[in-house]
Amino acid sequence: MKFDILTLFPEVMNDYFKQGLLGRAQRSGLIQVQAHNLRNWTDDKHQTVDDKPYGGGNGMVLKVGPIYRAVKELKGRRRKVKVVLLTPRGRVFDQKLAREYADLRQLIIISGRYEGVDERVAENIADDQVSIGPYVLMSGDLPAMIMVEVIARLQAGVAGKESWLAERQERGGFWECPQYTRPEIFQPNNRTKWSVPKTLVKGDHRAIKKWRQEKGKLIERG
Ligand SMILES: C[S@@+](CC[C@H](N)C(=O)[O-])C[C@H]1O[C@@H](n2cnc3c(N)ncnc32)[C@H](O)[C@@H]1O
Repeated sequence: MKFDILTLFPEVMNDYFKQGLLGRAQRSGLIQVQAHNLRNWTDDKHQTVDDKPYGGGNGMVLKVGPIYRAVKELKGRRRKVKVVLLTPRGRVFDQKLAREYADLRQLIIISGRYEGVDERVAENIADDQVSIGPYVLMSGDLPAMIMVEVIARLQAGVAGKESWLAERQERGGFWECPQYTRPEIFQPNNRTKWSVPKTLVKGDHRAIKKWRQEKGKLIERG
């Protein structure tokens, strides 16, 4: 799967995507992630990407032209492509939506900034408008990174898709459970002991499964 992000600050994102499992997945060709500078698609010598809002008001608005040209070029002739505009007014991103997007060949994400993005992008260019939660951030950069990470994790081979698929089938949904590792008892000081729950160290698999069901949180049913 290919991810393209349109932003004004691509360097931070591209550095992040080179690290850890996402970096490894890219080096082995499982996914491609690229953040692009919107200024590459401007048509004036000052590389202007924003302008004052019609009707007055504070702040600047990202122009439709550079976004239109960028999306047109990045999309090419691929099929199974979606263009997502990030906005706090959008549908809230969750595991279910991540799974829908995980079947695409390409996802193009438009990260807004300042007072937002010319509404003609939502009306004519974006397929979906997505929010990562009911709060307002300064830009769509962190939301874009979150989306890429969640969706990339669902691609085969990136983070053990096979194991979460089996788990999901067995337990009727996506569950997230508390996890512990060694040592079994940690002593931050002489008077205190932090122990791993007994059920997890005894090796009774039925009891462990039951414990995980009780302690886990259902992220997505189905
Ligand atoms: C300060 S916000 C602009 C808010 C603007 N009034 C609007 O409704 O889109 C700047 C940009 O940050 C991004 N953003 C802010 N909060 C977000 C959220 N909760 N989810 C997704 N993107 C968000 C959007 O791309 C937005 O264009």
